[in-house]
Amino acid sequence: MSEFKIISGSWASLASAVKPIREAVFIQEQQIAPEDEWDAEDAVSLQFAVYDQQQVIATARLLENGSIGRVAVLKAHRGLGIGKQLMLEIIRQAKRQQRSFVKLSAQEHAIPFYAALGFQVQGETYLDCGIVHVDMQMVLEEAIKI
Ligand code: COA
Repeated sequence: MSEFKIISGSWASLASAVKPIREAVFIQEQQIAPEDEWDAEDAVSLQFAVYDQQQVIATARLLENGSIGRVAVLKAHRGLGIGKQLMLEIIRQAKRQQRSFVKLSAQEHAIPFYAALGFQVQGETYLDCGIVHVDMQMVLEEAIKI
């Protein structure tokens, strides 16, 4: 894996960085409708952008209610540990914010990715935007040491 850095900030400061990633991954690759992808939560979320040199290669957001969402790594950069490092940084920030838990709605294929980080499945699967999802949660006191 080459050198990369993770930046966090407001939607105002990071929208131009993260929008192309979500456009490529969710709208183009996963065929999510644009009206489902862009919502009012962006403006009140803490946004994350992963940079490889000058190129943005991954993103995610942390909502005010402790939900992590829109976790996306560009296809060419997957399987290199970038998604994991991004999630660990979000968890670190959530701990700094004194949160007692973080949660997310996981696409079915990504359950093992989140489970390896310490997230646990909550309840049954459901359809969202035509994709099977399940709720997952991590109690931060029990989170892996980071
Ligand atoms: N299924 C099973 N295991 C997976 C996985 C998947 N889909 N994706 C990653 N993993 C595992 C890896 O094997 C790795 O295990 P290891 O630590 O034992 O080697 C670990 O999770 C970390 O993988 P990493 O390389 O950091 O993941 P990534 O950078 O490829 O990012 C996603 C993972 C899911 C974010 C990425 O595949 C992606 O952006 N997918 C498209 C968008 C998406 O579906 N986002 C999730 C919405 S809920």
